[in-house]
Amino acid sequence: MRAPITDPTFQILPATPDMLSDILSLEEACFSSPWTRKMLEAELTGNQFAHFLVALQKEQGETGGPTAVIGYHCFWIVFEELRLMNLAVQASMRRRGVGRALVTEAIRRGLTHTATRAVLEVRASNEPAQSLYRRLGFVEISRRPRYYSNPDEDAVLMELDPLTLETQRRRDNVLATGGGSTTTDSR
Ligand SMILES: CC(C)(COP(=O)(O)OP(=O)(O)OC[C@H]1O[C@@H](n2cnc3c(N)ncnc32)[C@H](O)[C@@H]1OP(=O)(O)O)[C@@H](O)C(=O)NCCC(=O)NCCS
Repeated sequence: MRAPITDPTFQILPATPDMLSDILSLEEACFSSPWTRKMLEAELTGNQFAHFLVALQKEQGETGGPTAVIGYHCFWIVFEELRLMNLAVQASMRRRGVGRALVTEAIRRGLTHTATRAVLEVRASNEPAQSLYRRLGFVEISRRPRYYSNPDEDAVLMELDPLTLETQRRRDNVLATGGGSTTTDSR
């Protein structure tokens, strides 16, 4: 079976301004042209379309409250469009479902607002991210030559249209059962 999105070792929550330094550290560790503190702050507090989620690693032990920021995701909901912006997971915490959980929560929030489709841009060489998005049902729709700098690279534009969690659940179930079933879970 696939790892559940609600992994007990981490929690997805809206970001708050006091998390800015942790988010900035992740941003700087993960991207060759990172957003600055000012840019992140503007998204977090001054952009009416922007939403910010963090993945918090839960403390070990009985008291177990949320602690370290191990991932974050910034996305915009602009009327019918969910636009996935920055997504980053701490290197030591990858391949545990954190990225998938962040994007799935963004989609859920988009759907409960006004979004009916989701779009994103990703570096052509970024196979891990493209694989994650494909896994969630996104498909490539076009490319923008030399869209990125540092280093120069094409952007792949991907889209999920229509935007449904149902479609993703079916895909996940088909993958999990080796193609034999399309029944959905009860979440
Ligand atoms: C892309 C990124 C956010 C993925 O985060 P993650 O928490 O490791 O992703 P998940 O564990 O949720 O992976 C979900 C699925 O995506 C795919 N995937 C993720 N990383 C992959 C990799 N390195 N190679 C191949 N497939 C990968 C797999 O299908 C995976 O499912 P599986 O583990 O059951 O096989 C992370 O690698 C990262 O922060 N990269 C640097 C920043 C970045 O590139 N951000 C995206 C910009 S568009």
